[in-house]
Amino acid sequence: MSKEEASAFAPVNIALVKYWGKRNEELNLPVTSSLSISLGNYGATTSVKIIDAPVDQVLLDNQFVPNTDSFYTRVVKFLELIRNKFNLGNMRFQVKTHSNLPIAAGLASSASGFAALSLALNKLFAKNLSLEELSKLARRGSGSAARSVYQGFALWQAGQSPDGQDSFAYPINYTWPKLRIGLLIFNATKKATSSTQAMQATTKTCPFYKLWPQIVDEHLQIMLTAIKNHDFITLGSIAETNALYMHSMMQATIPPTIYANEHTLQCIKKIWELRSLGLNIYFTQDAGPNLKLIYLDEDSSLIKQHFAAYQLIEIDVFQGL
Ligand code: DP6
Repeated sequence: MSKEEASAFAPVNIALVKYWGKRNEELNLPVTSSLSISLGNYGATTSVKIIDAPVDQVLLDNQFVPNTDSFYTRVVKFLELIRNKFNLGNMRFQVKTHSNLPIAAGLASSASGFAALSLALNKLFAKNLSLEELSKLARRGSGSAARSVYQGFALWQAGQSPDGQDSFAYPINYTWPKLRIGLLIFNATKKATSSTQAMQATTKTCPFYKLWPQIVDEHLQIMLTAIKNHDFITLGSIAETNALYMHSMMQATIPPTIYANEHTLQCIKKIWELRSLGLNIYFTQDAGPNLKLIYLDEDSSLIKQHFAAYQLIEIDVFQGL
């Protein structure tokens, strides 16, 4: 071991075809494959340091996270896995993570955090793991983290193996310089129901969850072709439909989860209205009230005007790639 501390960055990723449901809770193995786009410079920087202390320490934005917090428990569970995998005995760590986007606001910050932590641990112990191995490792922290080890489009293949060895993400090497993602932020506070809990309830109690795998298969095929052909309308409409199906499943679940708030609904209606007037704008939504707008650079200024009343962060996803 050459050093005592290492740090890494990993981007947030937004799923265009969602991961919703696990076939193995412990290993974070998904029922279906999923497809995402990473957000360039937006994400988490995570550092990990070996410490001489009885327990692991976790800091979020320079504040110690109490050991009663579910985030602390998740990080320590992941470190436990690392201690076993790398034969580290009782070695303790201090993990510091900072996201340049609001944490846990349905912006997949835990995904970028666990991907960055996996990359940092790989550096710290000079393991030279491949991106495929790093994707599998990150997946154990949070399923969607499997996709955050890449920039651009990534496909997380569900795999079939019970041990998860074939469940990792790989990059889809098509760029799309004109594509823009707009983060429309209504609420930056921690969500009440975690995605883990909501997806567990969905797989157990949603009467039409059984239709989801086939729907995802179809959406993935169409999405991949749309990406290859730069077919924006197909990409946008499939992403939006896929998100709406996911949210309808979690509402038809016991207990139900509704992540939308009044701003979410107002903006969804506005997007549909703008579209009926000829503007090419679509949305997707994850496990929080915020919307992610999907549009092309030529409509950027118009869209910023229409949503001037809200906080909108525009991301040029392929800048510098
Ligand atoms: C709606 O990856 O946060 O963002 O594996 O339990 O940590 P865990 O869940 P998580 O779920 C992400 C759900 C989603 C869709 C997606 O990113 O594909």
